[in-house]
Amino acid sequence: MRAPTKVLVLNGPNLGRLGRRQPEIYGHTTYAELAHQCVEWGRELGLDVEVRQTNHEGELLDWLNAAADDVTPVVLNAAAWTHYSYALYDACAQLTAPLVEVHISDPTQRPEEFRHTSVVTPHAVEVVAGRGIDGYRIALGLLVTD
Ligand code: DQA
Repeated sequence: MRAPTKVLVLNGPNLGRLGRRQPEIYGHTTYAELAHQCVEWGRELGLDVEVRQTNHEGELLDWLNAAADDVTPVVLNAAAWTHYSYALYDACAQLTAPLVEVHISDPTQRPEEFRHTSVVTPHAVEVVAGRGIDGYRIALGLLVTD
C-alpha cells in the first residue's frame, strides 16, 4: 500500500477565530473543528492532511517556501492577504504541486471592492469559494489524482 499523499491546508489571518468571527458570514464552525474535519476528510480521501493557521504573513511565506521545496500540494485560504500581498503572489508562483484556493465566503460577491482581486488565483488549479466549511472538503477532493 502506498503512503497517503501529504497535503498542507494553510489558513491566513483571523481564521483562528472561526466560529466567533462574524458568524453571519463565516458560520459557527470553530477553527479547531475545521482543522479536525480537514484531517478526517483527508483520511477518507487517502490524504495525510496537516492544517495550520497564522496571523503572521512571514510565517505563511515560510510554509509556502517549504511546500515549494518539498513539492507538497496546498489548500490555501490566505484570507485578507489574498487581496493585496505580492509576496504571497510570488510565494504561490514557486509552487509546482497543485494549489487550490479556498474561501469560506465568496469574496467576488461581497460588497468591498478590495475582495474582488486575488493574487492567489493566477497560480491555483481551482478556486472554491462560497461553499462554507465544506469548501475545504471539495478542495481536498480536487487533490486526489487516482
Ligand atoms: C475569506 C475571504 C476574505 O476576503 C477575508 O479577508 C477572510 C476570509 C473567506 O474565507 O471567505 O478573512 O478568505
